Amino acid sequence: MSQTGAGPGGMQPSIYNRPVSTDGAAPIIHAQNVTKVYSAGRLEVPAVRGLSLAVEKGEFVAIVGPSGSGKSTLFYLLGGLTRATSGRVMIDGVDFATLEDAERTRLRRHRIGFVFQKFNLLPTLSAMGNIEIAYAISGRKDPMDRQYLEHLSELLSIQGRLDHRPSELSGGEQQRVAIARALITRPAIVLADEPTGNLDTRNSDAVLEMLVRSNRELGQTTLMITHNPEAAAIAGRILHMRDGQIVREEKGLRSAPLAPPASPGSSAAQTTSGGV
Ligand SMILES: Nc1ncnc2c1ncn2[C@@H]1O[C@H](COP(=O)(O)OP(=O)(O)O)[C@@H](O)[C@H]1O
Ligand SMILES: [Mg+2]
Repeated sequence: MSQTGAGPGGMQPSIYNRPVSTDGAAPIIHAQNVTKVYSAGRLEVPAVRGLSLAVEKGEFVAIVGPSGSGKSTLFYLLGGLTRATSGRVMIDGVDFATLEDAERTRLRRHRIGFVFQKFNLLPTLSAMGNIEIAYAISGRKDPMDRQYLEHLSELLSIQGRLDHRPSELSGGEQQRVAIARALITRPAIVLADEPTGNLDTRNSDAVLEMLVRSNRELGQTTLMITHNPEAAAIAGRILHMRDGQIVREEKGLRSAPLAPPASPGSSAAQTTSGGV
């Protein structure tokens, strides 16, 4: 099951285009004994302390914990936005720590869609413009798939809102546009940090439902960080974080494997939650 020792030799050239792992292969996200220590002047702040985590392809995992427990730091580590102080972060079999910054950026752009608490939409562009620019930045050679965008807009219920600027949209709509922006490049992994943190209950529910739907219908692996246990409950698996470590794991409402259907003999989706 776990090919963690996949080893250095010879995997470098094709890493970005490796086929996404299928049943029984290594976890798509695999953190091994990861530590992150911030230096704040003479002070050392250990934000993540020897954390291990494995997420299978197609899973929806929530990470929940109080403020300051290291959730966002873990998000940056898993997303390749910062380097671990020690330990390994493997994304689809590739060790982030071994990559130069430019390569890490490329891997990130090809594999991961980010959703943030503050929607981070560009205010002078329409919703459509925001999605288009994200696609352009991703460096894809093929033109943006308009049909896929239509499909996403329907999935996220933002058809008819795409000509509007962020200031003309509700918070919930802005976040759904931000999700469309994250999904337009068809990332294998969606990382969301407090995606409902700035939303009222109704909009939160809608955004959570969209995340679940995109996880199911597009076959993505979703990792959502939240301090809100109610939001976390929609996940298949909930990991509780405290003081930079995962201290507890429980099943969420969707504990059935979320991987795409029609692959008989692959009931092992939840069994490799290893190292927790
Ligand atoms: N850039 C930074 N420099 C120094 N300390 C930081 C930095 N970012 C976060 N921290 C500290 O690391 C710990 C974890 O922070 P964070 O990952 O943001 O937690 P959470 O997202 O769960 O609130 C906190 O003690 C925080 O103050
Ligand atoms: Mg945070």
